[in-house]
Amino acid sequence: MQVKFDSDMKVFAQIGDPLEHSCTSYIHNSMYALGNVNAVNFNVVIKKGELPQFVEAAKVMHLSGFGITMPHKTDIIPLLDECDEFSRIFNSVNHVKIENGRLIGKGMDGLGMRMAIEQAGISLQGKRILILGAGSVTGPIAAELCKRGVSAVTILNRTIDKAKIIADILRENFPALKTAFGAMTAEEMEHAAPQSDLVVQCTSLGMDGSCHDFESLHFVSLLPVDAAVADVIFLPRKTKLLLEAERLGHKVINGMGMLCNQQKAMMKFFLDVELPDSFYDDAEEALMIATAMREARHYRIERNGR
Ligand SMILES: NC(=O)c1ccc[n+]([C@@H]2O[C@H](COP(=O)([O-])OP(=O)(O)OC[C@H]3O[C@@H](n4cnc5c(N)ncnc54)[C@H](OP(=O)(O)O)[C@@H]3O)[C@@H](O)[C@H]2O)c1
Repeated sequence: MQVKFDSDMKVFAQIGDPLEHSCTSYIHNSMYALGNVNAVNFNVVIKKGELPQFVEAAKVMHLSGFGITMPHKTDIIPLLDECDEFSRIFNSVNHVKIENGRLIGKGMDGLGMRMAIEQAGISLQGKRILILGAGSVTGPIAAELCKRGVSAVTILNRTIDKAKIIADILRENFPALKTAFGAMTAEEMEHAAPQSDLVVQCTSLGMDGSCHDFESLHFVSLLPVDAAVADVIFLPRKTKLLLEAERLGHKVINGMGMLCNQQKAMMKFFLDVELPDSFYDDAEEALMIATAMREARHYRIERNGR
């Protein structure tokens, strides 16, 4: 459906600061078209501290909802009327629906990763998970995997305290779960690897533009032969970790899967639309177009200074 720009059109915003790197509006608009919905999404830069005014404005303008990126994913929570349990516990909401003036929040990072893993044909029931990193995506991802009945979660992170906090929350909420945490050192990774059916890489290591990566990937060679490795990073398409895992014959899932599957969940949450099975190819294509447009913009700015 073409956007009609009439009074029936559903209007969504993508808010954050900065937004130059965000591909979300473009992808959401592509999904509305795929779902045959008369809706539009546009970027609005909202600075830290401006969120309460934005929320009031969104209600007055009868927005249907908004997507959220840095720095508002936590600050939005006290302003919500409703929020799912784990998004609140882990302070991470990236979608807000406005229904009859009520704000309903949901975090979809965890859901996106869980859907991507299952889409790759991996059953999570009873599996032992090794999670690398304990930043904002880790808790929601771990909780989604736990909801699917994984038996054990080990979280390793540079800052051990953050891994401990997440492990404690998981243990409280999933009493049958075995949990462990520690430092993300080569020794700890090598120690955990042989007992891990699935590794989920949740740090920013290996991301395009980051000068940091894993110093040693030896732990990958210690994984059981049928273990799989997932990564939150989608640029590059395959991190060195995924390339190494693939070279050793493991099934790999990149961050594209996490991002694309969030689109299906977003369409259901915002618009109650079930996207067709072909959604993944369209979401991936939209993401690639959006990142190419971003690169072109950077190139233009470099060339022209604006
Ligand atoms: N595919 C998707 O849909 C999707 C969605 C959201 C995010 N992401 C990606 O996920 C990644 C993590 O996002 P986030 O929001 O969780 O970030 P975050 O809260 O800033 O956490 C970053 C994580 O990376 C670790 N880290 C950073 N630099 C490190 C280094 N030099 N050595 C060791 N560990 C390091 C941090 O360890 P410390 O705790 O010790 O600082 C922390 O565990 C980002 O790359 C982001 O682009 C992907």
